[in-house]
Amino acid sequence: MDAETLREYLTFYQDLGFTSLYKRSAKPAKAEQVTVPVLPALPALAPEGDTLEKIREDIGDCTRCRLHAARHSIVFGSGNPQARLVFVGEGPGADEDAKGLPFVGRAGQLLTQMIEGTAKREGIPLERNDVYICNVVKCRPPENRTPEPDEMEICGQFLYRQLSTIQPKAICALGATAARALLGRKEGVTRMRGNWFKWRDIPLMVTYHPSYLLRPYNQDAKREAWEDLKKALHFVYD
Ligand code: SF4
Ligand code: URA
Repeated sequence: MDAETLREYLTFYQDLGFTSLYKRSAKPAKAEQVTVPVLPALPALAPEGDTLEKIREDIGDCTRCRLHAARHSIVFGSGNPQARLVFVGEGPGADEDAKGLPFVGRAGQLLTQMIEGTAKREGIPLERNDVYICNVVKCRPPENRTPEPDEMEICGQFLYRQLSTIQPKAICALGATAARALLGRKEGVTRMRGNWFKWRDIPLMVTYHPSYLLRPYNQDAKREAWEDLKKALHFVYD
């Protein structure tokens, strides 16, 4: 493995939340306590010439984390594979699990309205199909609970490959889970929203998750989310 490949590996696994790529062999005799590199056992980095089809193929009939047990479908993502803007949610809900498509329930309808409504008002010719939409985890968490850190870490590798392959001009992280998966930050969305961050070299905007905006007492947040979206759309499409 050359230095460049090794560097890419390290960045990739740091992004996934690994802090060390070495583990001790189980109960070593004192004299042979050595650290053993585990790089060869790690899943492959996003390969050269990766495509969304290859990523979906690699996911297969995935059982890599506990979320596989109750799911009906793997919700990979939908939209334009060459999208200049990618939206990342948390994980499929009941409607998405049933249909195999992201953001098709109530939150999804609001997201569609937000994208298309903002674009229209801002004079940007853009439909939902022009962007790409996916989630941090591809299988529905039971009772729509928040995905666990290990689930996000395991499934996150596919999200990272999707983003690396699409190479959008910007990413919009919907809610705290997406922000945590992509930025490793645990602050509330209220603090982060409306600001630009970066995932690798790609500008990333954090905003509220549409499910949060559906609650009647969050109407201020709704206005703010429209502002965030307006900013992101102008950045990408002007
Ligand atoms: Fe596999 Fe992701 Fe589904 Fe877990 S959530 S089973 S890692 S596809
Ligand atoms: N909420 C999400 O985070 N993702 C979906 O696909 C639907 C609802």
